[in-house]
Amino acid sequence: MGQYSVPAFNKFIADLQAHFAKNLPETEQWEGVQPFLKALIDDEQLREVSKSWERKKGREYILHHDAEYDFFVGALVREPKHMANAHDHGPTWTIYGVLDGEEVTHVYDRVDDGSKPGFAKLKLKVRSEAPTGTVDVVPPHIPHAENGASPRSVAITVRTTKPGSYDQIMFNLKTGKTGTSRGLELVPLAV
Ligand SMILES: [Fe+2]
Repeated sequence: MGQYSVPAFNKFIADLQAHFAKNLPETEQWEGVQPFLKALIDDEQLREVSKSWERKKGREYILHHDAEYDFFVGALVREPKHMANAHDHGPTWTIYGVLDGEEVTHVYDRVDDGSKPGFAKLKLKVRSEAPTGTVDVVPPHIPHAENGASPRSVAITVRTTKPGSYDQIMFNLKTGKTGTSRGLELVPLAV
C-alpha cells in the first residue's frame, strides 16, 4: 500500500525512491529514471484515470513532490495544436513521458557564443515524433519544445525539484530574443 490510489503510481514512487537512494552520479541517476517512467506510462489504469484530468494551457499538475529526495512528478495536459515556445529548464533535469495522445519534440543547439545579453541563436538539432509511450530525457540548459500532435495529450514529468524555484530561459525563434520564466501554474492533483 502507498499513499496513491493508482497502484502503478505507488510502485513508481517507491521505485524512484529506491533509485535515488543509490545516490548515483548525476547523469546516471537521471538517465536511470527512464525505465521506471516507461513502466508508468505503459499502465492502462493510469491512462484511463488521466482522461478525466482537465486540459488547460499554462498549468502543470503536481502529482508528487518527494519529501526526502526532492524530485517532482508532474502532469501536463495539452490542448489541441499546443505549441510550446522553445525553452530550457535551467539547471534542472526533466524526464518526460507521453502517457496519452501524440506529441512532437524539437531539440535545439545554441549556435551563438552567448556574448549578447538577451539574445540567443538556436538551430534545430532533432525533430522527433513522440507517440504514447515515448520517454525523453531533457538535461539541464538544453533548449527544446514539446508540441501537441493530437487533439489532447498527457505527459508525465519527473523533475529535479518543484518548478518555480529556478529561472528557465524562453527563446523567441523568430527574433532571437530571450527572456526568463519561473514555469507554469502549479495545481495539486490527487492520483
Ligand atoms: Fe520543457
